[in-house]
Amino acid sequence: MITKDMTLADVVKAHPNTIGFLNGLHLDYCCGGHDPIAMAVREKGLDVDKFLAELNQAAAKKATQRDVHDDIEAFKTLKVTEMLDDLEATHHVTDRRLMAETEELLNKILIVHYPHHGKMLTRLHHLYAGLKAELEEHFAKEEQLVFPLMRQHPHPDSQTLSLIQDLETEHTGAGDVIKEIQELTDNFTPPADACPTFRHTYVVMEQLFDDIFIHIFKENSIAFPEYAEQV
Ligand SMILES: [Fe+2]
Ligand SMILES: [Fe+2]
Repeated sequence: MITKDMTLADVVKAHPNTIGFLNGLHLDYCCGGHDPIAMAVREKGLDVDKFLAELNQAAAKKATQRDVHDDIEAFKTLKVTEMLDDLEATHHVTDRRLMAETEELLNKILIVHYPHHGKMLTRLHHLYAGLKAELEEHFAKEEQLVFPLMRQHPHPDSQTLSLIQDLETEHTGAGDVIKEIQELTDNFTPPADACPTFRHTYVVMEQLFDDIFIHIFKENSIAFPEYAEQV
């Protein structure tokens, strides 16, 4: 039974099949998911009791997003070093591919739809370019500096733990930009005059952000805490 005192991060950890439901409401269960449900839900202007009833229903239902559920369950069973290998082999590869695809599409629609949507698309293009640069640097830091240190020091030392804290701060920064993009695009709702490329851009971008949220969730709520416990 999920109660209003639990955090969304706890809920997703215990019931990964609620990810689809939470994504639908654009509730943050990874970067800022550490407030009690009552607080997080009220901030979104939702009714807490109604939300809890629906969330419990979603948790009780057989996983609709079976793949995500199984993926997170399998991830939880790995050793820390295996988790790091897995993150690099899956999310880092997928997100780089989706980032490149989104960048190309965004540039295309910026040019074609500039006459009618120039202001919004310029802002979107700008926000996205900054996010992409930050994430590329973040992935490089994980792959070249922090993950190797974690492998070399199976028992956490203060330097590695402090670098992990920096990564978590960067996750929060990325989450904030994604939220800004969600607002700017009206949660990825294309304008009425959008062409198929415009619509496709939003679909790919939403796919990318869904994957980034799961990626960050695995790091913040599973891999990093598990590492910190290996004292
Ligand atoms: Fe990562
Ligand atoms: Fe990360």
